[in-house]
Amino acid sequence: MTSTKKYIWGTSPFAKRLSEEIKLVANTNLTVIISGESGTGKEHVANTIHRHSPRQSKQIVAVDCGSISEKLFESELFGHEAGSFTGATRDKTGLFELANHGTLFLDEITNLSYANQAKLLRALQERKIRKVGGKKSIEVDIRLIAATNSNIRNAIAKGIFREDLYHRLNEFNIDIRPLRNRKDDIPSFIDSFIEEANADLFKNVKSIDKKALDKLIAFPWPGNLRELRNVIRRSVLVARNESITQECLPAYLDLSLKSENGKNGYPLLNGKGLEDVLHKTEKNIIENTLQSTHYDLDRTSDLLKIHKRTLYKKMKRHGIRWQRNT
Ligand SMILES: Nc1ncnc2c1ncn2[C@@H]1O[C@H](COP(=O)(O)OP(=O)(O)OP(=O)(O)O)[C@@H](O)[C@H]1O
Ligand SMILES: [Mg+2]
Repeated sequence: MTSTKKYIWGTSPFAKRLSEEIKLVANTNLTVIISGESGTGKEHVANTIHRHSPRQSKQIVAVDCGSISEKLFESELFGHEAGSFTGATRDKTGLFELANHGTLFLDEITNLSYANQAKLLRALQERKIRKVGGKKSIEVDIRLIAATNSNIRNAIAKGIFREDLYHRLNEFNIDIRPLRNRKDDIPSFIDSFIEEANADLFKNVKSIDKKALDKLIAFPWPGNLRELRNVIRRSVLVARNESITQECLPAYLDLSLKSENGKNGYPLLNGKGLEDVLHKTEKNIIENTLQSTHYDLDRTSDLLKIHKRTLYKKMKRHGIRWQRNT
């Protein structure tokens, strides 16, 4: 399951610190919490830590904590014995055991229910698991990496994440900045994504012209590296010659607020009233974010930090229609 994708280290002071942290912690057995907005590269960093660690010859097993049902949590993580519950027709090895001597990557850790957090904490403290329906404890030797795109401290304050589990996990913290706050790294990511897209799409794009590059640097990238990578792949595909020009870039980048902003970064009134401008600005932000997430409503509401129901209401008010797979 280890990603074979190349890790681009970047050149900004932040990128240098991040790469030092990755290499430093990779050599240890410390549990790591990686935090960062969606698409900033949390999973990629987790894979890179594993690949640089003494456990590299073993597996890194990823667990999407948000998608494991409340009921099946124990069985998925710790395994079960045949006949232990209806539907358990044969023995099952859990993800903890699969990751033995390797790394267990717990993605979206704050999505775990409070009850399952307690079960996880127990397993981490004891480094032993017991299969559902099993009698004996099995010792496991795993290195744990957890990721979250929400603020764990807020989740603790709200009482939805256990503080004891947080301290158990937080032996080392890596916080990945959003792409808009590390713009110096954009050119090196672009070069590498072009190279990757050339190989995948059998193209021979060699560069990006200045105007196109400036546009990509100015864009706020709500979907972070994932969005930049998608934009580059698409641009490489449509490029007719060896350089990516503005025409190759998706039109939605032009909808960016930038075109309507004054020098100080605020939207210009242009003779309109405040309410009109705010309304238009909100519509633009929602549309841009929807396009950057490919109309994934969960991710869009996460990025906008509003409830999904509020997003629906706003989309309706602005006449924005949901589209599939754009
Ligand atoms: N340093 C990097 N070098 C090259 N590619 C990267 C790097 N960081 C991220 N990427 C690419 O960006 C995309 C998003 O990365 P990843 O899936 O790791 O993000 P994430 O933070 O886990 O996102 P999410 O919160 O949505 O799960 C992937 O295609 C990944 O390969
Ligand atoms: Mg991820």
